Amino acid sequence: MGIEFQKMIPAETVVWDPETDETLVCLDVHQETHDVKSFTFASPEGKRFNFDAGQYFLFDFPIGPDGESRCYSISSSPHRENAFTVTVKRVLGGKVSNWLHDNLVPGTTVKGQGPLGHFIRPKGQKTKLLLLFGGSGITPVMSITRDLADRYEPLDIVFLHAARTPADLIFRNDLSGLATRMKGLRLQLLPETVAGELSWPGLTGRISPEFMKLAVPDIAERVVMCCGPAPFMAAARSITAALGVPSSNYIEESFDAAVIDEPGLNVEVQPAGKIYQVEFSKQKKTLAVCPDQTVLAAAKKGSIRLPSSCANGVCGTCKSKLVSGSVEMNHNGGIRQREIDAGMFLPCCSKPLSDLVIER
Ligand code: FES
Repeated sequence: MGIEFQKMIPAETVVWDPETDETLVCLDVHQETHDVKSFTFASPEGKRFNFDAGQYFLFDFPIGPDGESRCYSISSSPHRENAFTVTVKRVLGGKVSNWLHDNLVPGTTVKGQGPLGHFIRPKGQKTKLLLLFGGSGITPVMSITRDLADRYEPLDIVFLHAARTPADLIFRNDLSGLATRMKGLRLQLLPETVAGELSWPGLTGRISPEFMKLAVPDIAERVVMCCGPAPFMAAARSITAALGVPSSNYIEESFDAAVIDEPGLNVEVQPAGKIYQVEFSKQKKTLAVCPDQTVLAAAKKGSIRLPSSCANGVCGTCKSKLVSGSVEMNHNGGIRQREIDAGMFLPCCSKPLSDLVIER
């Protein structure tokens, strides 16, 4: 299905404004593997996107009465400015990924905020990278690789893609093409098992110190960028550190909410001074929150339903309406000034300065 753009606006002069623009139209859906699809979005007005490889968008999808927000990393090259692509794995029982796979078709409009995030290749130094990722952690790393391919700069990259089986290796054909074209790109594909692909030519298993020493003998000289599920990243962090990668050369990205530590979440708080009453109006619950506790941490402790992901003021997933009261908010780009002006705030990085009423 073709999408009609407003031809009156010269696209080369109009850039998507992260502060004010939010409507995106799906241009294309592409099946990457048996359970992974890529969704390509454009601005209905044909605006150009200006993002860094490795960044993501926060989407609002029309699911259920309140909608659902999720962050998805961009997998396309920033040099293709008229549209960007996110790549999503269907998660068993996942509300949003299943909705996307089953319902999002070309022509669907959704709301999106971004680009956001800081998982960006260090600039201004010789590009000697180890891109290390598991499963769908490939998406920001793919954007970084496509960016480098489009730049035609001298580079030295090891691209290590771990997955469950060969059938779960995302972008396998695209990667072969890139590796043929990019002289300094070395591909290491590591499925845990061959499953049905008995002709698999390479090694199988999980990342280990022994495997890493063999696959990337000069690992200590590389900047490591890692993305993937929490257990994978924990293993990657300890293996790379043991093999001499300094923490200053190790960059990681995760939106796996299940592993985020909530400050104070499991700590019994003994407030010495003032306690504030925080009311969650839709759930008709009120909590006592002390001033050194974030609203999200208090809500989780009190079994209040509040969406969250990064817990660090980055992704915007927890964004909520502050009906009354004031907070001290220290965010990291997950909310726009105009949203703050409209009474929104991020509970994950906000501490109460008074009693609060929150529309949740
Ligand atoms: S959970 Fe990410 S900004 Fe609050």
